[in-house]
Amino acid sequence: MVEETERNKEKNNKMVDQIRCFERILPMTHTRLLFSLPLFLFLFLLSFTFTNADFNVTTIPFNNGYSHLFGDGNLVRSPDGKGVRLLLDRYTGSGFISSSMYKHGFFSANIKLPSGYTAGIVIAFYTSNGDVFEKSHDELDFEFLGNVEGKPWRFQTNLYGNGSTSRGREERYRLWFDPTKEFHRYSILWTAKNIIFYIDEVPIREVVRSEAMGGDYPSKPMSLYATIWDASNWATSGGKYKVNYKYAPFVSEYKDFVLEGCPVDPIQEVPAAVACAQKNALLESQDYAVITPQRRLAMRRFRQRFTYYSYCYDTWRYPVPPPECVIDPVEKRRFNDTGRLKFGGSHRKQSRRRGRRSNVVSNNQAEI
Ligand SMILES: *[C@@H]1O[C@H](CO)[C@@H](O)[C@H](O)[C@H]1NC(C)=O
Ligand SMILES: *[C@@H]1O[C@H](CO)[C@@H](O)[C@H](O)[C@H]1NC(C)=O
Ligand SMILES: *[C@@H]1O[C@H](CO)[C@@H](O)[C@H](O)[C@H]1NC(C)=O
Repeated sequence: MVEETERNKEKNNKMVDQIRCFERILPMTHTRLLFSLPLFLFLFLLSFTFTNADFNVTTIPFNNGYSHLFGDGNLVRSPDGKGVRLLLDRYTGSGFISSSMYKHGFFSANIKLPSGYTAGIVIAFYTSNGDVFEKSHDELDFEFLGNVEGKPWRFQTNLYGNGSTSRGREERYRLWFDPTKEFHRYSILWTAKNIIFYIDEVPIREVVRSEAMGGDYPSKPMSLYATIWDASNWATSGGKYKVNYKYAPFVSEYKDFVLEGCPVDPIQEVPAAVACAQKNALLESQDYAVITPQRRLAMRRFRQRFTYYSYCYDTWRYPVPPPECVIDPVEKRRFNDTGRLKFGGSHRKQSRRRGRRSNVVSNNQAEI
């Protein structure tokens, strides 16, 4: 515990130093800054790297936490056992699943997406219990929506609780880097108090549990899934661009897995609740469980610049925003009443999504 605090102190000091340095640069270059786009971009990127000190996490080999889910032969383990590749070819996609279900946890991996023409492909990294609770499942998603070469990648996050599939809570964003060039860490934190989606050390979305959310807050044990599959009918520009198997196989790579939390039998939850108290307390004490002011700043910046759809601003779907929505006036000004960007929005028409792969989960998603 003492070590923990010391570490955080050190880290915070480092962040403060970086910000001070940033503040020193700022007045000097102030006039040039206004006119110098490259410098502006540099400082902007710097603003993300503030929070880029790695999480202090323990990584595990693939076999210690996960197993093959589907797509014979299309899951390829790396020789050192630390990573896997998931392939999509004209015969099948592929996926893996955590060997246990968890009630609360931190689910994280370094991921590299396939490059080139990837339209129509969805690469998902998510937690769900749709296999066990068909009618009342919970789910937390990262979904990367394939890409036409040369265009920025787009992705969405979503959340369902207790089968609330008619209340999609999706947000869509662009990325501030090319996810096909290097590995980046994508993480989902799920505690009894909050949910945080992270890219590297930047929190991009937080959902704080409130009484008003009721059963819409995920509260049953979930597994971690990673999948690649053909979603030609909706993924890219509303299905305009299909998967082109001329470019197959499409390969996504995963390594440096982190799987923290309390493994639980999904049916016999009660005895586990006692055993899990300590593990969940530990989870909530980790540095990724708290959004520091510096990280909150990075989150605001991300959200104000890279979100291009949010259900919270979609008053056609939700005349009253759902209870977990935090309406940020600066953010809100960017969106019209369909939750899309007022200017320069894209992905205007998305057809209803029918399912993920076979029937594991079938979500109804609003048209975005
Ligand atoms: C990371 O956390 C472990 C405990 O989980 C601790 O022993 C170690 O000192 C920490 N490392 C750093 C660099 O803070
Ligand atoms: C979840 O949904 C089921 C019905 O599908 C209901 O019986 C149960 O009370 C709900 N749980 C919560 C926490 O709302
Ligand atoms: C909202 O903005 C999008 C462009 O991003 C536009 O296509 C749509 O018609 C607008 N909707 C309304 C109701 O203004």
